Amino acid sequence: MKINGVPYRSVWLNEKDGWSVHIFDQTRLPFSLDILTLTTPDEVAQAICTMQVRGAPLIGAVAAYGLALALRQDASDTSLENQATMLAATRPTAINLRWAIDRMLTCLRPLTPEQRVAKAYAEAEAICDEDAAQNEAIGRHGLQIIRDIAKTRPAGAQINILTHCNAGWIATVDWGTALAPIYMAHDEGLNVHVWVDETRPRNQGAALTAWELGSHGVPHTVIADNAGGHLMQHGKVDMVIVGTDRVTRNGDVANKIGTYLKALAAQDNAIPFWVALPSTTIDWTVADGVQEIPIEERAASEITHVAGRDPQGTQTTVQITPDGSTAANPAFDVTPARLVTGLVTERGCCPATAEGLRTLFPESSPSA
Ligand code: MRU
Repeated sequence: MKINGVPYRSVWLNEKDGWSVHIFDQTRLPFSLDILTLTTPDEVAQAICTMQVRGAPLIGAVAAYGLALALRQDASDTSLENQATMLAATRPTAINLRWAIDRMLTCLRPLTPEQRVAKAYAEAEAICDEDAAQNEAIGRHGLQIIRDIAKTRPAGAQINILTHCNAGWIATVDWGTALAPIYMAHDEGLNVHVWVDETRPRNQGAALTAWELGSHGVPHTVIADNAGGHLMQHGKVDMVIVGTDRVTRNGDVANKIGTYLKALAAQDNAIPFWVALPSTTIDWTVADGVQEIPIEERAASEITHVAGRDPQGTQTTVQITPDGSTAANPAFDVTPARLVTGLVTERGCCPATAEGLRTLFPESSPSA
């Protein structure tokens, strides 16, 4: 996607040295567009843990480059296994991270140490290219859903889409998952408007989704996380679309905390609730998302404090809870498949069911 007319991806190799890895520091957005250079696997792990990079597909892609950086230092079998384990442990919920590391290991284990560095960079690049292509395809399939809604409305009527967290191009290598159809709808002239959940505690909606949509010229309004149900009751939401960090083989969906409540409100108001994902987000080993998907617990300070910019332009955090109050911070929740209208994948849309996923991905489903 473009920033001020210049095309970017969310992760790319440093053109000057050909090996270090660039990312945007997402903790600085929307106020400052800082490009970081990662040179070691520890720096990659730190960037993932602190959420300088975030979003399920993107952390997988960056971790793949992290393994390439590790092999530059030491390409032995022991180093490969240890660094892969270290990178995979940085965040627990998004399956794309584990998927990317496993893919790297599968192609690197059989090689000699001398062969590994070049192959690691090539494989990480392939992961990035495939993610960008998959998200573009998701955009095309999701666009059809928005077109279909538009056909049921008076010509030119605004189509109001609610989204939670940030599933845009900076959460992936390019395009995004939930936002890709919205970009395409806007680009072809459909009158889309996005309700952007602020997404406490880290405010990925208010900071990142609003920044992305604004940069692309897509009309949007940031709302408190608790406002969605009210808007739905008053006919102000035509569809909900979110991304996901892990989908079970039965169609349960783990996504940013608060997603489940939006799905409940959507069902109560008969509003379609779509989930957009590349197939790298499907965990075929898990059936019951509520019981089996590990939910990341993050620092209490993300609840007790909020980050922002003061009137002098300095980025800072301020405390909002009394001294001594404890805080809990589960970072994701699971929306049961029964609340999901359908899944939008790179191969098309399907019901959020085992059969639906099996039909689209027969080679991957456990019975294959
Ligand atoms: O904690 P985050 O910001 O990494 O969580 C991101 C999300 O929950 C996204 O919705 C999800 O990763 C889909 S990204 C295309």
